[in-house]
Amino acid sequence: MTYLLALDQGTSSSRSIVFDAEGRIVEIAQRELTQIYPQPGWVEHDPMEIWSSQLATAREVLAKSKIAAADIHAVGITNQRETTLLWNRKTGQPVHHAIVWQDRRAEPLCARLRADGLTDTIREKTGLVIDAYFSGTKLRWLLDNVPGARAAAERGELAFGTVDSWLMWQLTGGKVHMTDVSNASRTMLFNVHRNEWDADLLKALAIPASLMPEVKPSSAHFADIDAALLGRSLPIGGVAGDQQSALFGQACFDAGMAKNTYGTGCFLLMHTGGAFQPSHNGLLVTSAAQTGATPQFAMEGSVFVGGAVVQWLRDGLKAIQGSAQVQALAESVPDAGGVMMVPAFTGLGAPYWDADARGTITGLTRGTTVAHIARAALESIAYQSAALLQAMSRDAVAAGGAPVAELRVDGGACVNDLLMQFQADLLGIPVVRPEVTETTALGAAYLAGLSTGVYADVAQLSKLWRVERRFMPTLSRAKAEEAMGRWELAVRRATLV
Ligand code: G3P
Repeated sequence: MTYLLALDQGTSSSRSIVFDAEGRIVEIAQRELTQIYPQPGWVEHDPMEIWSSQLATAREVLAKSKIAAADIHAVGITNQRETTLLWNRKTGQPVHHAIVWQDRRAEPLCARLRADGLTDTIREKTGLVIDAYFSGTKLRWLLDNVPGARAAAERGELAFGTVDSWLMWQLTGGKVHMTDVSNASRTMLFNVHRNEWDADLLKALAIPASLMPEVKPSSAHFADIDAALLGRSLPIGGVAGDQQSALFGQACFDAGMAKNTYGTGCFLLMHTGGAFQPSHNGLLVTSAAQTGATPQFAMEGSVFVGGAVVQWLRDGLKAIQGSAQVQALAESVPDAGGVMMVPAFTGLGAPYWDADARGTITGLTRGTTVAHIARAALESIAYQSAALLQAMSRDAVAAGGAPVAELRVDGGACVNDLLMQFQADLLGIPVVRPEVTETTALGAAYLAGLSTGVYADVAQLSKLWRVERRFMPTLSRAKAEEAMGRWELAVRRATLV
């Protein structure tokens, strides 16, 4: 039997999954990751814990599955994106904790870049909007604030990397300093048209080029893992940022194919093929996972508060004891009874982009119960995703393409049938749940399998993608449009606060 090992280093945990060549899960191991909050708006991870937890799960999954390293054909890596690490090339020691993607400390630097008139240049070269989310200004913050870091960087002693680079460095005992195009495209320093670090942007941010990793396509031979770590030297054959990896794992290889990952937040990506398609609706353009040298793109939007609204029902409102109760509570009423919740706890992202918006519940009456609120909370995940997908479809049509025809779903909350049905009803297109919903890890395994000959081409992978359930829209378009209209009205109220 041929097996593939995926290392999936996420924001809240490190996971390792063994897949067979048919893309079926053989075994999973997982470890939580400590979240460090040094002050409001700052989020850090300990780089050594990122590494040790990832290695521990890789060892554990091999032990649990009783699959010898010799039977693992190749390894794929996928990771939380944008999270920024800086370490010493000689000692391998990080100079600081990793600055996590959610961290907002670099906002003043971003304001300066905007004031310097770099918005259009950055959008054109990188596909991104200037924001503290991306790695570039986080790296600049480290160089400016860690004593001695800038001088050491200028002497060529330091290495920058996203989590994938850090893991590869560790897995090879410091032999390789690499990343892939999909991770590089989240740094705000990468020219996505030329697939190379952009000298002008490095200069604008005062970042020495010697810090940057070598960039490869997502499916390629990156390196061989140090034999002492997993019992045998295994090839790393695929690397991609987690959202692009999920797009790949969902077999969305062609323009117009889209996926939504329902996690704490939701990440919606639509492949746009070889076309860099700028959005008129505040969406990002990003590099999709690439199997060769030719640039491939996706459009991306995210919902900041997705599944997190259920955590709020549990921990904030104390309306439920465990997250699993939410579906039963929401199903105990036929609808939300006119209640609309806009969970803009941290502002609203695309297509609204209002950092000052705050959460709002509208439509309360004497008859409103906690069940209506639970239902409205669940529905808010679908409303936000629908608004994003409709914005993507508008962009696609404006660029001469077709609107999105179906939405492939994954992530923890996609098991919720009520939510998926409501999503299909709002969108008026099928919402399709695959058999394997661990598509992030699956994408990395597929990328590794492709470069090492397990699969001949992506057409073969498309055949392996299997539907578990297709949710067909049951609501009339008139009713769905009326519901979206009420949502937009509620959003307006949230943004007036
Ligand atoms: O852009 C951030 C994203 O890559 C994080 O994903 O699943 O680790 O929360 P996740």
